[in-house]
Formats: sequence, structure tokens, C-alpha cells
Amino acid sequence: MAKWAAPLKILVTGAAGLLGSALVRRGARGLDRNALDVRDHRAVERILERERPDRVVFCAALADVDACATDPRARAINIEAPVFMAGLVPTTLVSTNYVFDGPGPHSPADHRRPVNAYGRQKVEAEDGVLAAGGQVVRTGWLFGPGGRNFPSRVGELLRAGEVRALAGWPVQPTWADDLAAALMQSTPGISHAIGQGETTWFDFAKRAEVLLGLEGRVRSVEALDIGPRPSDARLSPATLPSWEVRLPELLETP
Ligand SMILES: NC(=O)c1ccc[n+]([C@@H]2O[C@H](COP(=O)([O-])OP(=O)(O)OC[C@H]3O[C@@H](n4cnc5c(N)ncnc54)[C@H](OP(=O)(O)O)[C@@H]3O)[C@@H](O)[C@H]2O)c1
Repeated sequence: MAKWAAPLKILVTGAAGLLGSALVRRGARGLDRNALDVRDHRAVERILERERPDRVVFCAALADVDACATDPRARAINIEAPVFMAGLVPTTLVSTNYVFDGPGPHSPADHRRPVNAYGRQKVEAEDGVLAAGGQVVRTGWLFGPGGRNFPSRVGELLRAGEVRALAGWPVQPTWADDLAAALMQSTPGISHAIGQGETTWFDFAKRAEVLLGLEGRVRSVEALDIGPRPSDARLSPATLPSWEVRLPELLETP
């Protein structure tokens, strides 16, 4: 007679975000910021006692890269909270390709060299989570329905008018639902989960305008008025499906 193991219970922090909501769609138990503010360590202990998860996927973050340099909450959310969690329960930290600078692509064991506060905070969080026995999955350039970043909103922006998109910077757009599927599996140590198919934001937006029948709306820019970014943050190995097969789905989402 076949034996069936009970599915593992995976708890997700930051569950209202782009990646957290994709994990909830995959069957994880989600806690948004109202249900659990990850800076409240007593609340974390209470929730773990109540929920008794097998593993936590830590998606809560101050993910606005430039705000991390000035927002007084950044250390508590991006470093102290995941490290505290990892001391209590098996924890997967979702980290970033911004722990690196160029030249890429970077493999998991490569030397980290962050160029901004967000990247430095993730480096500290990675070290603390790993020291506590947790896991680190690095990713980058997420997009999907409900996201508020450029690739997630490209259809809405194109429908509204002209779009300026960065040329000359290699990106590996990664569909949040594909990453969520990968994160439902446990991967020891440090690993990378990123989409196949390199592009630039300019070419990504050009493809979107063709798919939408809105040719002529995308303008290329060589630089954006934002804080420091890695010159090349590509990751290897790239194993998740290419953005090219996911972009049509994004654009079909109302
Ligand atoms: N997006 C990317 O391209 C990308 C790339 C590499 C790595 N990552 C990492 O992937 C993870 C998920 O990113 P994401 O794109 O899903 O970001 P997101 O959409 O901004 O989601 C982050 C979530 O964390 C919540 N949060 C903020 N402060 C919190 C707190 N004190 N307690 C509990 N929840 C809190 C946010 O809630 P509010 O909105 O209510 O503040 C938000 O729902 C993050 O660790 C991020 O660093 C993302």
C-alpha cells in the first residue's frame, strides 16, 4: 500500500508582497504585515508557537532599494528580523543579486561586493541566517501580476503613453510564480534561482509593446536618476523559465 507523507507546512512573511502572494497561491500559509510585523520578536515567537511551521520563507523586506539607505526601519526588517527567525525555525532567506557587482554572471560561491545599502543589508542577513543553520536563495528582477516595479507594470505604463526604459544593462527578469514554485522546495546552503534569457529593460519593454500592438512608445535611456546599482548583477545558474514565455501572461492579466 502506498504511504503518503503529510505536506510540509511552509509559512511566509511579507505575504502581501509580489513574491509572498505567489507563495500563498502555491499553498504556503501567508502572514502579511498586519498579521505579523517581523520587527516584533515577541509576536514572532507567539506566531511560531501557534503555527508550528516546518519552514519559513522570509519574504518580508524593505525592498525599495534606495530607501534602504535612509529608512530607519531598514536594519530591523532586512537584517535583524530574518536572523532572529532563523534562530527559531528552519528559514529560507530570499536574498538578492545586488550582493554582487560586476562582472557577472555570479555563481553562488562568488565573492560578494555590494554597492548599496540594500545589498550590504542582505549580505549581513545572509551571514546571520546561514550561521543559524538557515538557507539563502538569491534572485533578482522579479515581475508578476500585482507587482509595483517597472517590469510588473510595463503593460499599464505602455497603455498610458510613452515609456522610458534602460538600455545597456543586462537583466534576467524572473516570474515571481516560478520563483515561488522553486521556493516551495528546500535547498540547503546558498543557491541561485533566476530566469533564463537575458535582456535589457529596453528590449523587455519593446517586446511588450509589440505584444500589445502599441509600437513606438518605448524610448531608450542610458542612465536613470537613481542610487548606485551593480554594473552587472546577473546570476548563474539560470534555471527558471524565460521571461519571454511569461510576458504574454503578464500582459493578459487585467
Ligand atoms: N522584487 C525583486 O525584484 C527582488 C529581487 C531580489 C530579491 N528580492 C527579495 O525578495 C523578497 C520579496 O520581495 P518582493 O518583491 O515580494 O517585495 P515586496 O513586494 O515589497 O514585498 C515585501 C513585503 O514585505 C512587507 N513588509 C515590510 N515591512 C514589514 C514588516 N516590518 N513586517 C512584515 N512585513 C513587512 C511589505 O509590506 P508593506 O508593503 O505593507 O510594507 C511587503 O508586502 C524580499 O526579501 C526582496 O528583498 C526581490
